[in-house]
Amino acid sequence: MVESIKNVAVIGAGTMGQGIAQLCALAGYPVMLYDTQPDITKTALAAVRKNLETAVEKGKLSATQKDEALARITAVGDFRQLQVDVAIEAVVEKLEVKQMIVSELEKLNAIDCIIVSNTSSFPITQIASVLKHKSRFAGLHFFNPAPVMKLVEVIRGAATNDHTARVLTAFAESIGKIPVMALDSPGFIVNRVARLFYVEALKIVEDGVSDFKTVDQLLKVSGFKMGPFQLMDLIGVDTNFAVTTSMYNAFHQEPKFRPSRLQQQKVDAGHHGKKSGKGFYEYSDSPQ
Ligand code: NAI
Repeated sequence: MVESIKNVAVIGAGTMGQGIAQLCALAGYPVMLYDTQPDITKTALAAVRKNLETAVEKGKLSATQKDEALARITAVGDFRQLQVDVAIEAVVEKLEVKQMIVSELEKLNAIDCIIVSNTSSFPITQIASVLKHKSRFAGLHFFNPAPVMKLVEVIRGAATNDHTARVLTAFAESIGKIPVMALDSPGFIVNRVARLFYVEALKIVEDGVSDFKTVDQLLKVSGFKMGPFQLMDLIGVDTNFAVTTSMYNAFHQEPKFRPSRLQQQKVDAGHHGKKSGKGFYEYSDSPQ
């Protein structure tokens, strides 16, 4: 079994994939970054470059550290190149896509490669059901923005072995995170608690009790760093909606997790938040 991680693959170069690639590269790991859409990988690399340049301007990073980190990230256009010690899946929140990716990764990689999912909601045991060697699969749930947020949930599926959990915990620490073990259940810990924050805020607006800007303002004044609508735009309205829908189904149509029609409408309209240039708010500096 892999005793420690020496190189990393990140599959999916969207909001989370690019952040995870950035933080692993900064911590000294060679990273292979793959997305089905090469344009997205290019945009991701440009975003990482911009973030690191800003960090240099602010004096948080030297120009050499920036250049070395950028040189550690390789955009790969061929899935078969993804042979590494740990493969981090960060693709869209769709069970069948995640299962397809992890079983392909399993076929490509040596038996001791650790495969993890950054899923926000699907039980790790359920994703792993398609794998032959389930003991080396686990959840490694980063938070957004990945380079900034300290917490990482390490989730053991029913078949994940001690060794995998131990190596992942050490890996998370090596990239400057605080790993916390979470039991395997839909949404794990943070997303299960946070779900009600979004669902109730959306309901308040749908019921005409208030408008989204006022809800955001009130919650910020009362001590939250960001309001729920700002946060949904940052996370991705589509991703947030997929997570709520997945948890609603996983808990057998539990009413407290019922997805919002307002949010569904935003998704259908392509108003996916910061990443699409428009969500609840408009963003002039984001790609349309
Ligand atoms: P995103 O929509 O920004 O990016 C997903 C990427 O996956 C896209 O670039 C897409 O082209 C790519 N993709 C889709 N199918 C693929 C395939 N077969 N092979 C390779 N790439 C493929 O989504 P985001 O927000 O980055 O979410 C990714 C995962 O991370 C999801 O499971 C989500 O639940 C989880 N997550 C998201 C957080 C957030 O705040 N956005 C926070 C923590 C976890």
